Amino acid sequence: MSQIMHQLLKPFILLVLVVKFCSTDRSFLVDWENKQFLKDGEPFRYVSGSFHYSRTPSSQWQDRLTKIKAGGLNAVQTYIMWNFHTQKEGVYDFTGDRDIQHFLQLANDTGLLVIMRAGPYSCAEWEFGGFPWFLRQNSEVILRSYDPKYLAYVDAWMDELLPKLEPYLYNNGGPIITVQFENEYGSYPTCDKAYLQHLVHKFREHLGPDVVLFTTDGYSTGYLECGALKSELVTVDFGTGGDPAEEFEDKEKFQPYAPLVNSEFYTGWLNQWGYPFTYISTDSVTETLDQILALNASVNFYMYVGGTNFAYWSGSNSGDDVDVYDITSYDYDSPISESGDTTWKYFAIKDTVAKYLPTPVEPVPANSTKTSLKGVKLASKGTLLIYFDFIANEDDYQSAKYPKSMEELGFDYGFVMYRYELKKDYPKNVTLAFPVNGIGDRVLVQTAMSHNHSAATYLATLDNDHKEARSLDIEVGLQTGHFIVLFVENRGRVNYGGEMQNQQKGILGNVTLDGEILEEWDMIHLKLEGLGSQILPPPDVPPSVAPVPIVYQAEVDMDMEDTFLNFTSFSRGVALVDNFNLGRYWPTEGPQQTLYVPKGIRNSTKFILTLVEFEERSEAETVDFLDYPILNVLPK
Ligand SMILES: *[C@@H]1O[C@H](CO)[C@@H](O)[C@H](O)[C@H]1NC(C)=O
Ligand SMILES: *[C@@H]1O[C@H](CO)[C@@H](O)[C@H](O)[C@H]1NC(C)=O
Ligand SMILES: *[C@@H]1O[C@H](CO)[C@@H](O)[C@H](O)[C@H]1NC(C)=O
Ligand SMILES: *[C@@H]1O[C@H](CO)[C@@H](O)[C@H](O)[C@H]1NC(C)=O
Ligand SMILES: *[C@@H]1O[C@H](CO)[C@@H](O)[C@H](O)[C@H]1NC(C)=O
Ligand SMILES: *[C@@H]1O[C@H](CO)[C@@H](O)[C@H](O)[C@H]1NC(C)=O
Ligand SMILES: *[C@@H]1O[C@H](CO)[C@@H](O)[C@H](O)[C@H]1NC(C)=O
Ligand SMILES: *[C@@H]1O[C@H](CO)[C@@H](O)[C@H](O)[C@H]1NC(C)=O
Repeated sequence: MSQIMHQLLKPFILLVLVVKFCSTDRSFLVDWENKQFLKDGEPFRYVSGSFHYSRTPSSQWQDRLTKIKAGGLNAVQTYIMWNFHTQKEGVYDFTGDRDIQHFLQLANDTGLLVIMRAGPYSCAEWEFGGFPWFLRQNSEVILRSYDPKYLAYVDAWMDELLPKLEPYLYNNGGPIITVQFENEYGSYPTCDKAYLQHLVHKFREHLGPDVVLFTTDGYSTGYLECGALKSELVTVDFGTGGDPAEEFEDKEKFQPYAPLVNSEFYTGWLNQWGYPFTYISTDSVTETLDQILALNASVNFYMYVGGTNFAYWSGSNSGDDVDVYDITSYDYDSPISESGDTTWKYFAIKDTVAKYLPTPVEPVPANSTKTSLKGVKLASKGTLLIYFDFIANEDDYQSAKYPKSMEELGFDYGFVMYRYELKKDYPKNVTLAFPVNGIGDRVLVQTAMSHNHSAATYLATLDNDHKEARSLDIEVGLQTGHFIVLFVENRGRVNYGGEMQNQQKGILGNVTLDGEILEEWDMIHLKLEGLGSQILPPPDVPPSVAPVPIVYQAEVDMDMEDTFLNFTSFSRGVALVDNFNLGRYWPTEGPQQTLYVPKGIRNSTKFILTLVEFEERSEAETVDFLDYPILNVLPK
């Protein structure tokens, strides 16, 4: 170290010493003999609420934390979504909405302890369960196992992340009392104890020997056998309706000497496109909560604060036959809603918690003000296919003999346009065919007469809902120099179960026309955010003949308050406020009808609203901003 560096660092070295010195009286540990936690030497239990910082703009974090504290809770639980901090191998982002240390500082300043779920895997109805997309670039990487190829990715990430958490451990003067490794690992087929041991060693290498590490699994023995280690704190999850004493029984057999913890007590449930919104009754929540607390258990509400799967962050589930995709809202029927409102459920839980913990002195902050604006007219800006230059850069253009998956192409999220130029005429009707499981996840099929797509014909939308070979007939008239244009949407990677291992997005396999494999493809990656930077020029063709997806824009001027976008005349697509991606809308499928527009995403009353609409419509193009959300309407 140079002299100058040494002089510069001296005050910091002193500060570190002082902090270490002052913190020696802080301690948090498991008292294995007496089945309890000890905080600063006193018996302790936590009542905590899940709040995912990645699902709420950072400008709103303080509001939500204050409401958690005022609800009588003494801790907040959060996941760290690995992919939220890493879009590209070796490049990390811990700024702004990704500033985990800022979040921890706010929690501490608010007087809340933190239960940290540090991954590497999270689940949480989040894209790929929190894994970065590039883990699927090498199909030999065996996820969630002791495979050295997988561990190399995990270790590189943990070497980056864990040193950021270490100063915020309780014993070091911060709010973090416990740290979870992996998540519901017993529900995953790999069942590899060497992998769990590896994580424990890695976590202790950075966080020290005294940190309280824990696992969370389903409450029955089958899950615990694969998911938990007897040497670390074992916690379970369950919802309302059962008998908590019974639900803790298998855990008690597996690890009799530890305090009882339910790490995910469900106050609501996840929601998916095309299925009714799930409500969990307040009475059932408070009734089971009372039983859990009467057992002297610690508990975490999952979720306590709702949030949003902005941009491309919603995950999906793979069934035997049908894939299902999570909606954009992560309101979850939580005690604190997606927009931060304190509900009846919040106050009922507060009353129940107050029977066991000190009643909070802080007043409950008011709901945010909501604003509305009806009949906002949008102008068509033509097909998305003419805006490549606005949103694609050099790396986004690729060519290959056969179609490649998004992962092979190095494209992370969003959309890919696959374009094939016909090399001969087709004088008869022909069939365009995709292989089994060949579409990830939904494709708009079009033909175009020219490179610039100014005259394109929409043919069909095909999805992968049934994982079968898909095909469609194209009528007479395809000619040399025409194009087959496939606009493919990645609707979010699977976040749960064994299907995580094999999934890929984009066109997966060869496409045939008239029985012949098509060779020589252009593949263009499209993320939509750049479109919101400016008002785009008027389109060169009338909207009625422009091929989908179609871009619409409006200049809007409204109060800087929370609001909800209702899609009166639109069907399915993505909406942006300036360049902030609000996420996917799909009111014709439901149950979510409105998108949350948080006040914290803009600095001005004026903004540009951009919609990229994927379906064909003919009605007047207007939207409404409402002062309340609509999340529970299934039009079909
Ligand atoms: C966290 O809060 C406690 C008081 O509850 C305080 O003693 C400690 O210094 C704070 N730590 C940080 C990092 O601000
Ligand atoms: C809960 O803790 C209290 C105080 O330590 C004790 O009196 C009581 O028996 C405990 N209840 C159960 C169900 O363990
Ligand atoms: C806050 O919002 C929730 C959910 O919209 C509502 O149920 C509650 O009544 C509101 N509280 C007040 C004081 O208006
Ligand atoms: C698109 O290509 C067609 C045919 O090559 C041409 O007539 C038309 O002017 C082009 N449009 C634009 C906007 O370049
Ligand atoms: C081509 O397909 C169209 C519609 O699918 C059909 O109406 C037409 O009869 C077909 N033409 C021939 C020559 O098979
Ligand atoms: C696509 O077709 C070519 C030529 O038949 C073949 O070599 C290649 O393996 C096929 N690709 C896939 C993914 O099946
Ligand atoms: C919201 O939009 C839907 C169409 O998506 C429409 O049917 C409904 O009436 C609108 N709701 C309100 C309150 O404007
Ligand atoms: C708002 O202003 C802050 C501070 O100048 C800036 O960092 C942020 O990016 C702005 N946000 C938007 C949505 O323009």
